[in-house]
Amino acid sequence: MAKLTLLTGLALLLNAHIGSAYVLSCYFSNWAQYRAGLGKFLPDNIDPYLCDHLIYAFAGMDNNEITTTERDDEKLYKSFNDLKNQNEKLKTLLSVGGWSFGTAKFSTMVSTPENRQTFIKSAIRFLRQYGFDGLDIDWEYPGSRGSPSKDKELFTVLVKEMKAAFEQEAKQVSKPRLMITAAVASDLSNILSGYQISELGKYLDYFHVMTYDFHGSWDGHTGENSPLFNNVHNYISVEFAMNYWKSNGAPAEKLLVGFPTYGHSFHLKNSSDTAVGAPTTGPGPAGPYTKQSGLLAYYEICLFLDKGATNVWDNSEDVPYAYKGEEWVGYDNVRSFSAKVDWLKKSNFGGAMVWTLDMDDFTGTFCEQGKYPLINTLKKGLDLESSGE
Ligand SMILES: *[C@@H]1O[C@H](CO)[C@@H](O)[C@H](O)[C@H]1NC(C)=O
Repeated sequence: MAKLTLLTGLALLLNAHIGSAYVLSCYFSNWAQYRAGLGKFLPDNIDPYLCDHLIYAFAGMDNNEITTTERDDEKLYKSFNDLKNQNEKLKTLLSVGGWSFGTAKFSTMVSTPENRQTFIKSAIRFLRQYGFDGLDIDWEYPGSRGSPSKDKELFTVLVKEMKAAFEQEAKQVSKPRLMITAAVASDLSNILSGYQISELGKYLDYFHVMTYDFHGSWDGHTGENSPLFNNVHNYISVEFAMNYWKSNGAPAEKLLVGFPTYGHSFHLKNSSDTAVGAPTTGPGPAGPYTKQSGLLAYYEICLFLDKGATNVWDNSEDVPYAYKGEEWVGYDNVRSFSAKVDWLKKSNFGGAMVWTLDMDDFTGTFCEQGKYPLINTLKKGLDLESSGE
């Protein structure tokens, strides 16, 4: 009896310390600062209690050393990491690479032991200098887009050497070890050519699986950005990608499901043909704030709906789409985020990753659902603490 009580007490105590069993990692993009008016986004716009990991995108690379990419990065690094003064449980990571960065500098860096050590040493120096808690490697992708097939193995070598160096440094300076995470592909062919999954599972702290961009105007027909399920092409879905990573040796608790706070838009060939799979002639027009054709932030989709777009729930894929005239967008809303987070918990994944903070309705002025309606859906769904008080 006494033993039972002690155990129960211990369990409660542990629970109180650990909090939620899930992780919520949210990306900040350092180009959102250039958006106009209500779209402008700086680290000061981040609610320090919304996510428990914040990731700063992106850093670059020069001569195999990590570098800034925007003129005021150093200033923004400071305000980003100062958010930890408000929430001491918050962890911050710096992400290196990204889609536009390409693969060439990664390939050169991993190609020799000297280059890898140069990079790893520079990363330690840089992360400690600015007060980050870890590095997120966003190489899109090893073994694809011009990266040679040997990079699949060299990526593992890099991560393994980095983990060893981070462990050694932590002992030397008596600080918690720097974390290592990676943003990884969700498309089967990119997964196959890029990753030694179970090996990576030994060294990475988290896999940020980019379970979005499944469909876009490059397809020539309408399709969802991030369908949870897909009965027709069943390998093109969040469910397939996550289960592939898991069943091939990545520990489920290290796998974070990617949630997009944006949609991909299309120009319909025939405005009467609006179904998923309908022919398209190109990307939809750029949004007024994000100004990139074929992409709309969630808050810009709210504007589109306000202008009278027809909203449809896509039952077979568990995500919505909307259209008006010749413009069509496949996206995510509160309902699809809820459905995905329920599925995530049933599947025992480690939590959620969000691309990005700055494309949710962070001001709460466009969607009439409060501030950060999408990311708050994840926070509630994952039972994260509501504040630090
Ligand atoms: C557009 O689609 C509608 C409905 O499918 C069809 O009746 C019409 O002929 C199409 N128009 C053209 C120009 O293809």
